[in-house]
Amino acid sequence: MDIKSRIDYLRKEIKRHNDLYYDKNNPEIADSDYDALVKELEKLEDDNPLFADANSPVKKVSGGVSSTFAAVKHSVPMLSLDNTYSQEEVAQWRARLLKTVSALQFIAEPKIDGLSVALTYINGVLATAATRGDGETGEDITQNVKTIKDIPQKFAIKNPPSFFELRGEVYMSNKDFQDINKNIEAAEGDKFSNPRNAAAGSLRQKDPRITAERKLRFFVHSFGKIEGLSSELLLQKTAGKSKFPFKSHSDFLQYCLQCGFLLQNDIAVLNSYDEIAQYIETMTVKRETLPYEIDGLVIKVNSQELQSQLGYTNKSPRWAIAYKFAAKQAATTLNKIRVQVGRTGIITPSAVLEPVRLAGVTISHATLHNFEEIERLDINEGDLVLIERAGDVIPKIVKVSKKNSIGCFKPPQKCPSCNCEIIKENDDEVAYRCVNPECPAQFKRHLLHFVGRNAMDIEGFGQAVIDQLLKRNKLKALSDIYALKYDDLIDLELFKDKKAANLLNAINESKKQPLTRLLFALGIRHIGEKVSEIIAKRFETIENIFNASIDDFTKINEVGEILAVSLKEFFERPEVKRTIDSLKNAGVNTKQPKEQKAGAQFENKIFVLTGELSKYSRDEASAIIKSLGGKTSSSVSKKTDYVLAGANPGSKLNKAKESGVKILDEAEFEKLINEQ
Ligand code: IVH
Repeated sequence: MDIKSRIDYLRKEIKRHNDLYYDKNNPEIADSDYDALVKELEKLEDDNPLFADANSPVKKVSGGVSSTFAAVKHSVPMLSLDNTYSQEEVAQWRARLLKTVSALQFIAEPKIDGLSVALTYINGVLATAATRGDGETGEDITQNVKTIKDIPQKFAIKNPPSFFELRGEVYMSNKDFQDINKNIEAAEGDKFSNPRNAAAGSLRQKDPRITAERKLRFFVHSFGKIEGLSSELLLQKTAGKSKFPFKSHSDFLQYCLQCGFLLQNDIAVLNSYDEIAQYIETMTVKRETLPYEIDGLVIKVNSQELQSQLGYTNKSPRWAIAYKFAAKQAATTLNKIRVQVGRTGIITPSAVLEPVRLAGVTISHATLHNFEEIERLDINEGDLVLIERAGDVIPKIVKVSKKNSIGCFKPPQKCPSCNCEIIKENDDEVAYRCVNPECPAQFKRHLLHFVGRNAMDIEGFGQAVIDQLLKRNKLKALSDIYALKYDDLIDLELFKDKKAANLLNAINESKKQPLTRLLFALGIRHIGEKVSEIIAKRFETIENIFNASIDDFTKINEVGEILAVSLKEFFERPEVKRTIDSLKNAGVNTKQPKEQKAGAQFENKIFVLTGELSKYSRDEASAIIKSLGGKTSSSVSKKTDYVLAGANPGSKLNKAKESGVKILDEAEFEKLINEQ
């Protein structure tokens, strides 16, 4: 390929990967492979100025602005960071800087694998929040960002600056990422492939209530424009001598801490190259123990004056560099492609690998998502494949390293469990399904789901118990769970008197579960925990759900056409009616108790605000209440559910006390938000 064609190819390919990463949240290649393409194009463009093009993807910040959100212009462009995978290049970067400036002090921080967000505070109150977008203009995500509890709605300091555009990273912790994926898996939805994708998918939601549920977090790392910083701070930190708002990046971070932001734990001030090298070494190991994903370290010149002397290229500051960790990848043999049947009949492939060590753990399985993924990767049993661990999850196959087989693995023609026909419901669907309602594999998965912690929650009813009871023909229908007797259990492996009694007790207790759980336990396609809860609360009894039309379902905000059709089809099936009848006969509750459960404290609740809150203005508190489904009113009446009382409350507080309305202080209010 000649140079021009290679340049064209690289530009096209990089743009395609930018779109996959920033807009579709679905990257196809490892970060390190992407960075290698960028480096190659940068070098070719530098060496061949004849082919220069201002629109080249390496000449500007990547990322786009969609039409879903309003556009927000950044006060100062949001740039990217120059990056390297080699310590030697970090040393070269430092040496280069030392040619321009004298002694250098650095500050180093973990590079959070999240999404860059710009927050604008006017007089210390959060006014707008925007994504990075194309660097000049981002998307307005203010309402969503207001649900993130690490982000103060109001600064905790007196005399806040009149204008402050702060920047930082919105991210999701590994634990929250795993919890979300577990819920998605239970609803047989498409799981997020790593915490960054989960954070991106959660942040760019049209409905802030969904963002609020996702427990996003935030660390501040830089800033855009600042105006009207109190002279107190200028005097204290810079002795009033310079035009820089902060003397150093360390001072900026300390100021943010005082404003109410959280700082990362592993920020270090480094005075020599040896200290930088030591930091890299320490953090490369420590990275594995952090509760969130980092993809590298950012090393910054600490002094703001020197930062300004060093300046910027059109893409990134010269005063900072990102040292990125090598991807957690390894090559191994794909021994087998296992095909499993899920609870709703979806047939999913997964990879059984020759065990290999990767980032400290032995890996023997990888996800394959669906058969389209197998086709895209063009893999078959026996191939040498490259695997990558993204987040703290089961690894995925990135590509074939060496093709040892002929052709690509084909989806099965028949269900591997019951040998019945399998179908691909429509051309857009990537999933194949076994539609035999009596398929034993589906039934077994369904049993497991039914007794699971988030469903009927029968403790002690695990896979081993189910396997043995199935073998002994004791479980032919869901309701058989409730017909089990002491004699059936005492026979099971490792079962003694107490264990059998406990399990019987847990089975009995589960009969009292509210309709929300029973509905989720029924394992209806596309219906996860949240939707089950909404539907159970709306319809109150299983009979009402049986009688509901598609229209009745779609009247609910959270229920679209697909969910409504899935519900209707499910409740029209004769065997479902039989199952519910026998569960009812066994004494299982099919009603939703009236009292409020945790998780819907704001839904249609009327709040009255009185007094001054420390963290929120009245308007902000009202906006939060509304974004979570509640309402506000200016006076206390019989209809009032809560009075939110701050300092120096007015007569509304007395009225609330007299009429027995629940009174919340600011801490209780925040607790209520967090329980959402
Ligand atoms: S400083 C001019 N510090 O990495 C940009 N960025 O690849 C100055 N990032 O756009 C940013 N952790 O979104 C900085 N500790 C950190 C960071 C960090 C993550 C992100 C940031 C930036 C991207 C560049």
